[in-house]
Amino acid sequence: MEKIVINGGVPLRGEVQIGGAKNAVLALLSATILAKDTCRIQNIPNISDVSIMLHILHQLGADVRRLGADTVEINTKYFNSGVVPHELTKHFRASYYLLGALFGRFGHARVAMPGGCDFGVRPIDQHIRGFEMLGASVAFEENAVIALQSEQPMGNLIYLDVVSVGATINIILAAARARGVTIIENAAKEPHVVDLANFLNSMGADVRGAGTDVIKIHGVKELHGCEYATIPDQIEAGTFMTAAAATGGRVLVRGVIPKHMESISNKLIECGAEVLEFDDSILVAAPKRLQRCKIKTMPHPGFPTDMQPQFGALLSAAEGTSILSEGIFDNRFRYMDQLVRMGAQIKVDGKVAVLEGVPFLKGAQVKAYDLRAGAAMVIAGLMAQGTTEVESIEYIDRGYEDIVAKLQGLGADIRRRETYARGEQEIAG
Ligand code: EPZ
Repeated sequence: MEKIVINGGVPLRGEVQIGGAKNAVLALLSATILAKDTCRIQNIPNISDVSIMLHILHQLGADVRRLGADTVEINTKYFNSGVVPHELTKHFRASYYLLGALFGRFGHARVAMPGGCDFGVRPIDQHIRGFEMLGASVAFEENAVIALQSEQPMGNLIYLDVVSVGATINIILAAARARGVTIIENAAKEPHVVDLANFLNSMGADVRGAGTDVIKIHGVKELHGCEYATIPDQIEAGTFMTAAAATGGRVLVRGVIPKHMESISNKLIECGAEVLEFDDSILVAAPKRLQRCKIKTMPHPGFPTDMQPQFGALLSAAEGTSILSEGIFDNRFRYMDQLVRMGAQIKVDGKVAVLEGVPFLKGAQVKAYDLRAGAAMVIAGLMAQGTTEVESIEYIDRGYEDIVAKLQGLGADIRRRETYARGEQEIAG
């Protein structure tokens, strides 16, 4: 089992390159099912969620070619629409995009329920209702398989009861080749929704209004292949910006879209950091100790829920009392008990956490409960006095490419360790 070992207290300094957006790429890879010739996608991060999605596409008959470090060519011409079993879908949440893409291409789909980070109940009722509104009959079969069946998706007006990134993306995938027009009201506006719309339009689709809360999709008969480069990862960038500020460092985060980072940049400024925006990079410089702030996570363009744990780590040692409200998920504060092990003083009441800033955190053995909580533990270890060991780091590898090597490049005293029953061995980067 691998863990990450950090000797904290070192301010991060230098430059770091941000990779492609995990939550955009997983949608784009699913969208290749809708075309019958080759899609070439660049700026793909080398993370385990992407590897699993490519494996699933290959298992379903796609021709998948990795070209260099961050480019993939996919041809789904010879593609079977068999059942996508639980042993494949359970590894991550985005496997449910296969429902929308398979239904959009074949008029039917059978995909087992997704996995993904445990934040309490994560219903998919909005996805199901969207498919039904597009004419699908929906059955729940054994082994957690969801089956969609119809002649062909038919355009319709769909009002989402909840602003859902996944449901918005899944309905766009299902509607892109539907007969007629589909309008999604109360749609999610995240950058990865816009990236999917741009990708589909480069394949010959007609998706308008992405990035607003009303998206109109004129169904088209066929889609063709394309060449495309996905957007940078807003959350990876935000994680490194937060780590820079939390360690009192000075870091230039390269290859970002500053507009996507606004809510995060503004909160770092409110906490006392200096944030300078350039065309495709952002400089973060921070004093030794930051100030308190109040945050409520909201759908884009609000403060992203995927940045909540990272700020939990940062605020646990900021001056004063901070308040973190989780506006999206039922239970996304589990990681707080790991910060308390490091000396943080935190009270959680439902979806609100109150953090009394302590002068410094103390190194400890901690666990990554999920992807972003794992990133928060790494940030806490970088901030802390002494040594921190983070276990269950497979969660972190789901969404961060080479996080240890990138942090080493910023001067952090951090390394991976393989732990065996009888001892430990260091692993490069
Ligand atoms: C996506 O999850 C992301 N995952 C999550 O990122 C992210 O936290 C989330 O959007 C919010 O931004 C991927 O893109 C693969 P939602 P998703 O549907 O689509 C409720 C990460 O770390 N809801 O926008 O599952 C839901 O319970 C991951 O990269 C329903 O009630 O999130 C939640 O309270 C973690 N019914 C809210 O909506 C539904 O049918 C928002 O969820 C769907 C969702």
